[in-house]
Amino acid sequence: MATKADWSPDSWRSRPYVQIPDYPDQKALEAAETKLATFPPLVFAGEARQLKRKLAAVAGGEGFLLQGGDCAESFAEHGPNNIRDFFRVLLQMAVVLTFAGGCPVVKLGRVAGQFAKPRSSSFEVKGDIELPSYRGDIVNEIEFTEDARMPDPRRQIEAYRQSAATLNLLRALAQGGYANLDHVHQWNLGFLKDGPAVKHYEEIADRISECLNFMRACGLTPQNTPQLRMTEIFTSHEALLLGYEEAFTRVDSTSGDWYATTGHFLWIGDRTRQLDHGHIEFARGVKNPIGVKCGPSLGSDELLQLIDILNPENEPGRLTLICRYGAENAGKHLPAMIQAVEREGKSVVWSCDPMHGNTIKAATGYKTRPFDLILREVESFFDIHRAEGTHPGGIHLEMTGQNVTECIGGAREVTETDLSARYHTHCDPRLNSDQALELAFLIAGRLKKDRDAMETSRPRLAAS
Ligand code: PEP
Ligand code: CO
Repeated sequence: MATKADWSPDSWRSRPYVQIPDYPDQKALEAAETKLATFPPLVFAGEARQLKRKLAAVAGGEGFLLQGGDCAESFAEHGPNNIRDFFRVLLQMAVVLTFAGGCPVVKLGRVAGQFAKPRSSSFEVKGDIELPSYRGDIVNEIEFTEDARMPDPRRQIEAYRQSAATLNLLRALAQGGYANLDHVHQWNLGFLKDGPAVKHYEEIADRISECLNFMRACGLTPQNTPQLRMTEIFTSHEALLLGYEEAFTRVDSTSGDWYATTGHFLWIGDRTRQLDHGHIEFARGVKNPIGVKCGPSLGSDELLQLIDILNPENEPGRLTLICRYGAENAGKHLPAMIQAVEREGKSVVWSCDPMHGNTIKAATGYKTRPFDLILREVESFFDIHRAEGTHPGGIHLEMTGQNVTECIGGAREVTETDLSARYHTHCDPRLNSDQALELAFLIAGRLKKDRDAMETSRPRLAAS
């Protein structure tokens, strides 16, 4: 078995790997990677450890992981309003889950580095033209021309710049007063004033304001209680473009351990989780909390081997299993996975990605996801964990703060014919802010129901 002593930030290069593009200009690639290696880290190892502690609590049944953001961040959509609107809807969802669901929430953005995309095919064909597939703005451009589709390493420098600017604004919003609970009413998004989820949110915001008034009267105010004045948001992305990740893999001076410093949490995608491949090799050596996407082709024996490689010491909070089976398939696969993990006594966070197994092609040609299927997968995730006696620890969503029309359904129904109106994603279809908030309410309701049921089934002390 491979040991820590055989690991180095570049040991992935001696393994097979897929989904990393061939750069035509190797010299330019080396120059970009050398330059990136001199840049400051985006996150500090102590923050990654803090996130790991929070995830350890989730793994132990205390708390809920809310992970969400774009399928692919793009250079074109980069701007302050998009970042603020994303942060705002994530905050609203967290408030709903914390208050209505009665559960501490770990906020983790697919943001500030979510640029590289795995593709099912290396080429895209339109008419009689075949070009390399778009692999995310960190690699090439989405436009369908030969020039645009050529992998260009200079884009990695731009992705770093954008990640740093995004993270900077997110930290400012989280800590500079925007997230103060006194502003809970102001987070409602402008274009959704009359939506059902927004009305429901207003009710919760009123109740929170009432609690804050009570606490103020008791002497606890946002001025003297930082938890009321600021919040914490962590960043994550798929660790796909390993040359980029390697350039930012640094030894933490506090602990002497290696950390990936492009984000707090990195995950390995469903297409790159082969046990002997470069992506798993890279992930096993960094101390960050790590996620693995688990799709229908992952068997429980292979899952246990994966856990042994990525978390040999069974450290709580280290590993999050992000299940993405599709509404139809969750019942077929998830119970056996949970049973295997429980049997071996492994500590993991179970998270549900109800997006990637529920993608369909609309008659109009758009890739979309029906809200109903998304909801069904979430519900079966909860049902299965309830039946197995395990904790449904989190949710992993593709979502945006914008009023896009990419997923069909929801209370303010988006129809197939609406899709073309505001279909802006660079990759997979995202929930818009109304749909994301609606889903948060449904999950909060479920968390509360399950908790209440557990409390009533707990044996009570006999009255004396
Ligand atoms: C993604 O999260 O955008 C993705 C490609 O997921 P998966 O690896 O689960 O297909
Ligand atoms: Co996606």
